[in-house]
This record gives sequence, C-alpha cells and structure tokens, in this order.
Amino acid sequence: MTANDKVLIFDTTLRDGEQAPGFSMDHDQKLRMARALSELGVDIIEAGFPAASKGDFRAVNDIARQTSGTTICGLARAVEGDIRATAEAVAPAAKKRIHTFIATSPIHREHKLNMDKATVLARAVEAVRMARSFVDDVEFSAEDALRTEPDFLIEVFSAVIEAGARTINIPDTVGYATPEDIYRLFSDLRLKVKGAENVVLSAHCHDDLGLAVANSLAAVRAGARQVECAMNGIGERAGNCATEEIIMALKTRADSYALGTDINTRKLYGVSKLLSGLTGHAVPRNKAIVGENAFAHESGIHQDGILKNVETYEIMKPEDIGVPKSQLVLGKHSGRHAFAERARALGHDLSPDQIDEAFTAFKTLADRKKVITNSDIEGLILGKEMGT
Ligand code: KIV
Ligand code: ZN
Repeated sequence: MTANDKVLIFDTTLRDGEQAPGFSMDHDQKLRMARALSELGVDIIEAGFPAASKGDFRAVNDIARQTSGTTICGLARAVEGDIRATAEAVAPAAKKRIHTFIATSPIHREHKLNMDKATVLARAVEAVRMARSFVDDVEFSAEDALRTEPDFLIEVFSAVIEAGARTINIPDTVGYATPEDIYRLFSDLRLKVKGAENVVLSAHCHDDLGLAVANSLAAVRAGARQVECAMNGIGERAGNCATEEIIMALKTRADSYALGTDINTRKLYGVSKLLSGLTGHAVPRNKAIVGENAFAHESGIHQDGILKNVETYEIMKPEDIGVPKSQLVLGKHSGRHAFAERARALGHDLSPDQIDEAFTAFKTLADRKKVITNSDIEGLILGKEMGT
C-alpha cells in the first residue's frame, strides 16, 4: 500500500472522546484503552491534552512510555506552556507527534480569542515553529475551519506548512457542514494551499447533524488521507466520527474508495466493548457496526432471507468485526422457518405437525413477552412433546 492508497486512522477516543461529559477515564483505564487501540492497529493515538491537568500529563506520558509501534500524540493550544508540556509528555514515545491548534473562524476570533486575523496567523506560525523545535511530526488544526473564510484558511495553512507542519487538520468543530461543503473545501484547499501536496490533509468531523462519518468520507474522496475519529463515536456534544464506522465504511465500500487502513477489524467489537465497560456507557442497541442489533434479525421475512443466504440482509460479515455471529432473535415478528431452525439447533427433531403446534404456542407467547429465550422455546416444545 503506498501512502496515497492508505487512510491514516488518528484515534482521539482518549482526548476528544474522553473530554465529553460522562466519559472521563482514570489513569489505568486510559492505559488499557491505549493498549487496545494500539493492538487494533490505529496509526496515531491522541492520548490526551497534557496541559489540561497533572493527571492527563501523566497518562499521556505513561502511554508514550508503554505503547510501541503507534504514534503517540498530545494536544496543545498555540501557547508556549501547552507546547512545552506536550513535548515533555510525548518525549518517551518512539513515534511522537505534537498537535497544536488555534481557532480561525470570525466568531471564535472575535468572541473567544479577541484576536484579529494577523495575530491568529502569527500565533499559528509561532506555535508550529516551536513544536518543530521538539519533534519532527507536527500537526496543525484550524479550529472551526468549516466556518472560517476560505481565503484566510489558505493563508494560515500555507504559512504553517512553511513553518514545518506535516499534517493539516481541517476540523468541522461544531458539526455544521454537509458532505458537499466538505468536499468543496478540501478540494479547494488541496489546489490552493502552498505545499499542500507535501503534507497529509486530515478530517476531524463532529456529529451534531449526524453527518460525521459521511463528512469524513467526503473529505477522503477530496484527498484527505487522515481521519480523526473516536471509538463508539464519543466526543464533544454529539461526538466525533466513529472509528468503527469509518473503518468498516472504507472496507465494505472498497469498490468505491479503493483505500486501505492498517486496522485489524476483527478487534473492533472487543475495543468497543472495552470502552463501554470502562466508561459505564452501553452502546445503543441499534448503533452501526457494534450495536447489539447490528447483526440481529427478528422479522420473519428477514430471518427467512438470512437462513437462505446471509447476504440478503447483511452487508458485512460479523466475524470481520469480531462479533460472535449473526443472531436470529425470536419474537412476535419471527416466522416458522426461523422457529424450526432454532428447535433443531436445540436438539429437537420435530415433525411438520409438531412444528405447527409449537409455533402457534410460540406466537401466543411472543405477543405477551418481548424477549423469547431458548428456555421458553424448550418449555413450549417439551410441553407439546409431553402432550401438556
Ligand atoms: O473539534 C475540534 O476542532 C478539535 C480540535 C482541537 C482539533 O477537537
Ligand atoms: Zn473535536
């Protein structure tokens, strides 16, 4: 795979993800999660924001010490203290990155930073130069890029590339953009930013409108070769682009993107489970890729299709994600075919008449009970076999 055929996966579960309300992790939990992400095969782990607290500094520093093979990155505002703290925190890593950022949009310049364009530009360049004095691998982000004047973005990105940035991240900080906006902006920046051909363009999309994955794919289509994402889609407000979703979208639709990642997708389910266990937040049942219903089928029509050929209703193999196997959930929508299969799997070789009888009893029970277990089914069958 050449650099241009590959999308780098920059996982920010431990930074943007962890900073969302309810998702903070203690030191040992962050270390366990970092190990799991590294085994999953992500290219870059954004391990935290070292200047935010002593605890975050220590977590990033220990992750940098203990994780080999993966680039360890820390986030720093475009201020000297943050950059120094981040440089020190990531120093033990074999592969290290400083990610520095400043907001560029008019609303952030005027109301948050109280800076004019020239000051923002100067601070961005100074930050990148300083970060480069510590490490070779420097990423620069223009916070709220999607609401920034495109000409100003071109000016800032051209200047920070000259100052030594190797990755240019273009965040949709507030999840406002549509895929068309993203495609247009990334295509434009690729053409107009000086030195863009020598750096990696990166997408960092938030999910406020539920478009984070679609927007990240649009960025990739327009030439981005790094996607920033978080497991289970956690992150500020509605979250970030979900790591498991972008990876499986690129894999499943390789016909459309023809771009690889180095991810061992079979570990996705385990890492998702680990994160929900550590944070105490269950993944919603209907969550794409890793939700409990992602490979479960209840309705008779779907179950019949699945029993004939799984591809009738499944576009991915559960084992490719590490999910044990597709489940046919028996409930009031289920059909005779799935019921008979379950009875057989439970060791009951029933005649067609016996199946009809047990199936009628099953439908009556399913109208009363939401979840029908194997013991319920055994009870129905044995009851019939015993003539009760
Ligand atoms: O959403 C955002 O803009 C960020 C930056 C710090 C990259 O998280
Ligand atoms: Zn973010």
